Amino acid sequence: MPSRRRFEERSVIVTGAASGIGRETAVRFAREGALVTVADIDEAGARQTVDAITADGGTARAHRTDVSDPDSVEAMVDGAAEAYGGPHVLHNNAYWAPLGRAIADTSQADWDRTIATTLTSVFLGCKFAVPRMLAGGGGAIVNTASTAGLAASPSFGAYMAAKGGVISLTRSVAFDYGRQGIRCNAVAPGLTRTPATDPVFRDRDRLGFLTGKLLVGRAGEPADIAEAVLYLAGDESGFMTGQTLVVDGGRLIA
Ligand SMILES: NC(=O)c1ccc[n+]([C@@H]2O[C@H](COP(=O)([O-])OP(=O)(O)OC[C@H]3O[C@@H](n4cnc5c(N)ncnc54)[C@H](O)[C@@H]3O)[C@@H](O)[C@H]2O)c1
Repeated sequence: MPSRRRFEERSVIVTGAASGIGRETAVRFAREGALVTVADIDEAGARQTVDAITADGGTARAHRTDVSDPDSVEAMVDGAAEAYGGPHVLHNNAYWAPLGRAIADTSQADWDRTIATTLTSVFLGCKFAVPRMLAGGGGAIVNTASTAGLAASPSFGAYMAAKGGVISLTRSVAFDYGRQGIRCNAVAPGLTRTPATDPVFRDRDRLGFLTGKLLVGRAGEPADIAEAVLYLAGDESGFMTGQTLVVDGGRLIA
């Protein structure tokens, strides 16, 4: 007898789902029966993700969203609720960060954009999704953090601060709403092959240096992270909340 799919009929929002980890996560949620809102500022990319999901027999809709804009995030949550109910799951995954900037070389504008897109976005997603989750009896939130929120990376100050904030905010939401049926966890990827890291993957020397630090001997793929997100969003992790699950090929313990 075929087993029941893990997210059958659940309304799931994935931000940053036009690309990379978010796209793979959206595709995998849909394969598990979820009704997926593909949210991204890149509308064309979001539509491509929706096309991939529908070609695969799944259900999804694109929603142009700027995760740093409160009105846009509220409309994202309202749109998901109107189309598919819930939301039952929110995956806050979109980000932006300047590469290779130590703090003295970081402009105020880059700092503000990083915090707005990478940290305030998570606040806004939770702020607008939580009341609907409470009204529906609960839900699961999974935030994409980073190993950069747990240990130092060179010249990545604004991003590290934002991701450290995401980890702390994850605990706060878990603490405040746990008894009301909302679980909130984070996934902390290490080096993962996506369009964002394409320059690293094209630089053989740099890639060799970085993968040499990984105990599993390879960089991550979006599927590695997506499966962790589905676990944290699903009933299988029902005894976990406020945690940050590190998926980094062993980098942080090495
Ligand atoms: N790839 C890695 O090695 C790695 C490592 C650690 C953490 N992460 C985290 O994983 C997440 C996904 O990263 P990725 O590597 O898949 O990147 P990506 O560049 O492939 O995807 C990021 C997506 O976010 C979207 N986005 C940017 N600004 C937005 C905004 N204002 N509103 C809505 N959407 C916006 C982009 O359009 C893009 O589709 C991020 O939170 C990132 O910090 C990635």
